[in-house]
Amino acid sequence: MADNGLILVTGAAGQLGAVGRTVTGLLLERGLPVRAMVRREDDRATALRAAGAEVVVGDLLEPADVARVVNGCRRVYFGLSVSAGYLEATVLMATVARDVGVHALVNMSQMTVSQMSIQHTTPSRQQRQHWLSEQALAWSGLPVVTLRPTVFLEGFFLPLTGPSVRERGRIELPFGQGKTNPVATADVARVIAAVLADPGPHLGQIYELTGPRSQDLHAVAREYADALHREITYADIPPEAWERELQRAGLPEHLTRHLVTMAALNRANRYDRMADGVERVTGRPPMSVRDFVSLHAEEFGGCRS
Ligand SMILES: NC(=O)c1ccc[n+]([C@@H]2O[C@H](COP(=O)([O-])OP(=O)(O)OC[C@H]3O[C@@H](n4cnc5c(N)ncnc54)[C@H](OP(=O)(O)O)[C@@H]3O)[C@@H](O)[C@H]2O)c1
Repeated sequence: MADNGLILVTGAAGQLGAVGRTVTGLLLERGLPVRAMVRREDDRATALRAAGAEVVVGDLLEPADVARVVNGCRRVYFGLSVSAGYLEATVLMATVARDVGVHALVNMSQMTVSQMSIQHTTPSRQQRQHWLSEQALAWSGLPVVTLRPTVFLEGFFLPLTGPSVRERGRIELPFGQGKTNPVATADVARVIAAVLADPGPHLGQIYELTGPRSQDLHAVAREYADALHREITYADIPPEAWERELQRAGLPEHLTRHLVTMAALNRANRYDRMADGVERVTGRPPMSVRDFVSLHAEEFGGCRS
């Protein structure tokens, strides 16, 4: 069936800076028609509609919903929150996408999958589900583009270091002396928008996405300090204390286990990675920590430089 240009973006509501929401905006800016899938009618749905998207409501775990939202779209961005049903949602999407005859499916995965195999998995059910999701999509025969970003600046560093940086001038994380190279969701979204606008050259590719510099948290803290014009230091806190904090904040158990695994992998220096996916696809280098913190200076309790 011919490609009518309509692009489905799942997980399109999100918080400000979430992947689907940013991708929707970038595609609309390019003048491309977007069907934005949300879970419920709320202010975020209204904003997406006002921006020019066709908004559809549905649950990625409900077969009839997925069939309804995919029908009529030949290009799809697939991603949703870290959640226990991730693999089921992926296999359901693959089943429907095959039935509909989707021409390009952009799958959100994680960089850790690059180091996973039958013998080497991790204790995070989320990471295992991304790994298995990639296998299932490969078996599906669908034209897939796989994105494996490392940890997000918007989705991890902003919410999880913002409060302690604001209140105590400290990044408090149990990352030991491991190096990390976080990527901005804004850059990940630019990659997705570029692929969806012209999927042909990207089909079958796996893009690993990192920021521009792999460094330990002391060096990351120096970038925060440069951006905020005040002293910011890194405190390597005990993993057990951090886990208790996540539990106190009421995070779902699935997400807590995932974050605790991420921290352990950071301590083991498994996030010391450098990849060129952002620049290769978009022609522009990824955002630095300093530029990100500068852009979000108010949320980190400092003045914009
Ligand atoms: N955060 C990181 O550091 C990081 C790093 C690498 C990869 N990733 C991957 O990035 C993805 C998350 O991206 P994000 O930051 O854009 O996520 P997000 O903001 O947490 O979630 C995106 C959207 O998914 C929707 N959603 C959740 N369950 C759904 C369901 N059953 N049906 C329909 N929609 C559903 C949520 O709706 P509501 O808003 O209504 O709840 C939310 O708007 C995950 O695949 C994660 O593994 C994250």
